[in-house]
Amino acid sequence: MITGREMLRTEVEQVWQIDRREVIHHIYCLENGALVLKPETYDMQGWPKGEAEKYTPILYECYDRGAWFYGLWEEGKIVGVAILDRMFIGSRVDQLQLKFLHVSRDYRQGGLGRLLFELASMKAREWGANKMYISATPSERTVDFYLKLGAHITDEPDPELLRLEPEDIHLVFELGRHLDSTEDREADP
Ligand SMILES: CC(C)(COP(=O)(O)OP(=O)(O)OC[C@H]1O[C@@H](n2cnc3c(N)ncnc32)[C@H](O)[C@@H]1OP(=O)(O)O)[C@@H](O)C(=O)NCCC(=O)NCCS
Repeated sequence: MITGREMLRTEVEQVWQIDRREVIHHIYCLENGALVLKPETYDMQGWPKGEAEKYTPILYECYDRGAWFYGLWEEGKIVGVAILDRMFIGSRVDQLQLKFLHVSRDYRQGGLGRLLFELASMKAREWGANKMYISATPSERTVDFYLKLGAHITDEPDPELLRLEPEDIHLVFELGRHLDSTEDREADP
């Protein structure tokens, strides 16, 4: 059985136990404001070398400023994590960043990503944000996942986040929206 709860500070480094393996065949680029899909293959055997060393201090900083860390475990093994930063960004200072969202390879396509996204957006709403900001890995699957959940390309990329991840696709999710709301479904042709 998969159970979820907020993570303790002592569990922060468990995020690197998530199985990151993935084969990527296409990536998106942003050209004149439009998403263009390009064939590019990456066989990710796990977390990129140096990723844990580089990001662990950043994750602790994030935790210590009150970010929301939420984990999913099965029989003691962590299988998914979402992190929502607590620091408001954007020209209106009304956006919170979804800093991390990962589901272990064998647990993908089963609704856990959607569940974590939904919980993070509820938390962002509770904290008073109008939008959730996502600097998404440009792989086809990742971007399609966020688009499917209702995120769209931001017209106001955060300069600092864009500097850190220029290849990412920078998206926002409007928190006035609810996932799969009747309104959305009726709007679809
Ligand atoms: C992206 C990721 C978090 C999605 O999690 P997941 O558990 O596989 O996604 P879900 O099963 O909850 O899917 C949610 C919705 O997205 C859709 N979706 C999932 N994978 C998809 C894909 N490859 N292409 C298009 N839509 C997809 C599902 O159909 C589902 O919609 P539905 O509920 O209407 O059927 C997960 O695949 C992952 O960890 N990938 C590797 C790491 C990564 O890219 N993280 C994001 C970094 S920014």
